[in-house]
Amino acid sequence: MTWCSGLEEICRADVPLSAHTWYRLGGPARWWVTPRDVAELQRVTARLRDANVPWRILGRGANVLVRDAGFDGAVIHLSAGSFSEVRYDGIRGYAGAGADFPKLVKDACNRGLAGLETLAGIPGMLGGIIRMNAGGKYGDISRVVRAVRVVDSGGALVEKTHDQVQFAYRRTRLDGCVVVGAVLELREHAAAELVDRYRQVWNEKYATQPPVSERSAGCVFKNPPGQSAGRLLDQAGLKGVRAGGARISEKHANFIVADPQATAAHVLELIEIAKDRVFREFGVELQLEVEVW
Ligand code: EPU
Repeated sequence: MTWCSGLEEICRADVPLSAHTWYRLGGPARWWVTPRDVAELQRVTARLRDANVPWRILGRGANVLVRDAGFDGAVIHLSAGSFSEVRYDGIRGYAGAGADFPKLVKDACNRGLAGLETLAGIPGMLGGIIRMNAGGKYGDISRVVRAVRVVDSGGALVEKTHDQVQFAYRRTRLDGCVVVGAVLELREHAAAELVDRYRQVWNEKYATQPPVSERSAGCVFKNPPGQSAGRLLDQAGLKGVRAGGARISEKHANFIVADPQATAAHVLELIEIAKDRVFREFGVELQLEVEVW
């Protein structure tokens, strides 16, 4: 009997993760699990813990690099309809972890609700956006999050307050938890202005970053305090440098783009080359922003 007996309807074996990441790289997940609701998610995580099977949650895979060997454990994907519910009561909203983030941002603008418009152009599911406190030049998601609903490491469904989540730069204290949704608090504002602002932020981003048609996982490294990883990588002469099918974008040096012949190993090799060069040139040790599985 394996950990998933009785859960066959929601559990598949050996599913290629390349089909589920923006990089379109990497090997399979030993198991791919799609629980239909929170109760089923709780059952799945309890079984995985009891059986000591490593597991991860994958959203849209926009910030993940999966190794070529794949992930020898269970990957949980909250794509079921019950996880993508979005509802508003005035300026307060509740959105499930499976909600498509770009769509959530656009909808809020059209409804005349401010707070998300500066997060235009960030791909992902809300769960992943919260988990890593995604953001950009104008702030991060933490600013509008009042509470986060999670299945905690003991398997209980609990609501964590903003303070308990301990949002920091691209980081939260949600280890061992599965985000199932979040309570957002927005502000009333003229919809037309929000849509304009949204477009402006989107345009700025795509003027300085590689287009979505190029395979990447966004910024590879975190910005060191008070510095820009992109600028350091650029000044170190890394734009255009390649390892196999992976190359450092000519447009923004903190993006590693995968060409058709790329493997995850090529991207990892280039990450090491880039880190090494920045350390030798500037004595700065860059930290990964992308998650490597
Ligand atoms: N720069 C260069 N060369 C480059 C890239 C950047 O000189 O190749 C310079 C720019 O000219 C600018 C400075 O570095 O003066 C900062 O660059 P930018 O404005 O592009 O922002 P960033 O700090 O590199 C951050 C986020 C991005 C987010 C943008 C825009 C991080 C690591 N990156 O980039 O987030 O899209 O702001 O809001 O925090 C991501 O998280 O995956 C991501 C791409």
